[in-house]
Amino acid sequence: MPDKETLIAWDKRYLWHPFTQMSDWHEETPVIIARGEGCYLIDIDSNRYLDGTASMWTNVHGHNHPALNAALKAQVDNIAHTTLLGYSNIPAICLAKKLVELTPPGLTKVFYSDNGSTAVEVALKMAYQYWQHKGYPQRKKFVHLDKAYHGDTIGAMSVGGIESFHRTFNSLLFKSIRVPAPESARLPRCLTAMEHTLAQHSTEIAGIIVEPLIQGAGGMLVAPKGLLKGIAALARQYETLLIVDEVMTGFGRTGKMWACEHEDVSPDLLCTAKGLAAGYLPLAATLTTDEIYNAFLGEYRELKTFFHGHTFTGNPLACAVALENIAIFEREELLTRLQTTIGHFQNRLHEFYQLPHVGEVRGCGLAAGVELIKNPDTHEPYPLEEKVGIRVCKAALARGAMLRPLVNTIVLMPPLQISLSELDTLLDIAYGAIAEATG
Ligand SMILES: Cc1ncc(COP(=O)(O)O)c(C=O)c1O
Repeated sequence: MPDKETLIAWDKRYLWHPFTQMSDWHEETPVIIARGEGCYLIDIDSNRYLDGTASMWTNVHGHNHPALNAALKAQVDNIAHTTLLGYSNIPAICLAKKLVELTPPGLTKVFYSDNGSTAVEVALKMAYQYWQHKGYPQRKKFVHLDKAYHGDTIGAMSVGGIESFHRTFNSLLFKSIRVPAPESARLPRCLTAMEHTLAQHSTEIAGIIVEPLIQGAGGMLVAPKGLLKGIAALARQYETLLIVDEVMTGFGRTGKMWACEHEDVSPDLLCTAKGLAAGYLPLAATLTTDEIYNAFLGEYRELKTFFHGHTFTGNPLACAVALENIAIFEREELLTRLQTTIGHFQNRLHEFYQLPHVGEVRGCGLAAGVELIKNPDTHEPYPLEEKVGIRVCKAALARGAMLRPLVNTIVLMPPLQISLSELDTLLDIAYGAIAEATG
């Protein structure tokens, strides 16, 4: 292995990191992770850090998990990759069956892709083409909430609502309809705005897309109870499709396997990614109903086929790990055990209000955002140049935890398997880091 200095030099010379101002990066000494152990990440100097954001909201059972490693190794001895275009493979078939059994009723077909953005692209394109097959080609538009985040590809950005991410690309994006999010409008107002939009544009709407229960990248914004159910009812009433983006919330993050289950919602399309392969490998799936699937059936020459597919669709290694991920959930009754972890987490979150620059603490399941404000009296936000979120994360790193901010909101989202004592350590570190950076 190259030595540390060489790795740092090569990183700065050859790598372009995502969502990173690279001129800042060049001023810093990067932490280079070499190994993982449970909820800890270990760098090339053997420093240990609690993984406070589950490695970008993906990790479920911890790193270097023996059963997940074994599943991956067993599969690689059979085959690493083969295509689903025209052929099939064993783990992809078994996982599709399992996902249909696990997801809300009515979802009967699984379409694989590689990441959250592509899972959303698939859902949008399926909905769009579905209406063409049903004889409603004018149904082309999608409705989404303000502050929504569904990924960084062009289609996913077109249904996004985060100005700072999406403004630059505006002229590349297709037109969609943005409805105020519950942060700016209380539940009845949000639903009224949604109903108004649907009533006004009902003949041109292909579908509504939502992040259920909590909007992640928008700032960990927790939806009022009933919003999802209300939107689902409106989708039925106005005969349009409901796409639920469970990329962040799926696989237990909110305390149930799917956030939809909290409000008994069965969408027409469900997107899952991040936790699907336990945070080990890139894998995503878009699930849909017989109604949508059947609309694509026909003669070969009719070209009703869903013309979409990625090279690594249904990759056997990722599917084998995903199967073991689900097996661990079942074997260890993780969702039952998780309730204690979530209870402890949510109780302790209130402590952050003791810090004067904490404006709001928002949490749902094992995910939370601590929003920092410059002036507690006027609620004036920290200006970007103060980089307060980044400073908190640096202070946390020095104390032994890896965090990642959403601008001025500090995200706390550890692996689901985190122990109560590790969770306490993480919360203590986050608290101390915020106190230091805002003190
Ligand atoms: C709700 C939601 N949808 C989609 C995405 C995009 O996923 P990916 O980064 O895997 O493309 C994310 C990523 O954070 C997300 O939180």
